[in-house]
Amino acid sequence: MKRLNSQLQDDGAPMELILLIRTLLAGCKEIAFRVSQGALAGVLGSTLSENVQGETQKKLDVISNQILKDILKDSGYVKAISSEEEDDVVPCNPDGKYLVSFDPLDGSSNTDINSLIGTIFSISHAPQWMKPDDPSAFLQPGTQSVAAGYVLYGPSAMLAMTTGRGTHIYTLDKTHGGFLLTKANVQVPEQTAEFAINTSNQRHWEEPIQNYVADLIAGEDGPREKDYNMRWVAAMVGDIHRVLTRGGIFLYPFDKRNPNKPGKLRLLYEANPMAFLMEQAGGLASTGTGRIMEVMPTEIHQRVPVLLGSKEEVKACLSYY
Ligand code: AHG
Ligand code: MN
Ligand code: MN
Ligand code: MN
Repeated sequence: MKRLNSQLQDDGAPMELILLIRTLLAGCKEIAFRVSQGALAGVLGSTLSENVQGETQKKLDVISNQILKDILKDSGYVKAISSEEEDDVVPCNPDGKYLVSFDPLDGSSNTDINSLIGTIFSISHAPQWMKPDDPSAFLQPGTQSVAAGYVLYGPSAMLAMTTGRGTHIYTLDKTHGGFLLTKANVQVPEQTAEFAINTSNQRHWEEPIQNYVADLIAGEDGPREKDYNMRWVAAMVGDIHRVLTRGGIFLYPFDKRNPNKPGKLRLLYEANPMAFLMEQAGGLASTGTGRIMEVMPTEIHQRVPVLLGSKEEVKACLSYY
């Protein structure tokens, strides 16, 4: 089976980017190990602190963030980091060539029930003019990313990654600690009969999503003329992995509760990397009003509505706007 390194080389990734990705993944392997120890290592449960998002941090949020921060800072390849669990940009090496944004642990509410969780990341070039503590260099659209991916800590640890030459899926071989290519050039099926949305928020959705989901639920008797099935992992990594694997549409739409927080998911380290992976696999990723990857961020923890997955289904959803 092909190793990650040779796939990255075949995709034309520069050596320094390959080394950075390998460093980042070394951190993810450590997270995978800590996660697998669970209650035996006392890593489950919450801390007493809150992050900038106003969420109570789980112990694993803090541990995963620290692992990735330490390994990336030590590497020398990175000029600065932005993370869900860091209020501000974290300055690293002033000569580093790359910026890394990450969600160290996605699906925090799943930690204590031994369910799916993961790490999501995105990498872009660090401009030379940038001071390492300057957040403005992170405020570039997703189209500027040079790589993005996630590691899923599931029954097996899997990596989905793109450097702009297709989306590839790898499985961690724990016998030698390497990621092996298990599915090259993923293609998301264009049609689907499966959707993912947290329906407990229905009353807060805007009109187009209300109408669209109502038509999906109406099934064969409704205008879509087929029965749909619903799935919700409560970790974006898990839901997106399913969509990449067998198709579907994933929605975290605009939420009328708070106009300053249009949706729940964060642009830099959740929406953009997943949009990049999805587009490279032939799917679509939209906010409802435009392409996610073209959104110009105004702050590092900005939230956006997310509609992504199978091409024809996303188009059908957008037709309600
Ligand atoms: P995080 O655990 O990194 O804060 O992200 C959680 C996100 C995302 O993974 C998931 O899709 C969504 O929250 C689940 O939201 P609900 O609580 O509405 O199910
Ligand atoms: Mn969180
Ligand atoms: Mn998340
Ligand atoms: Mn998280």
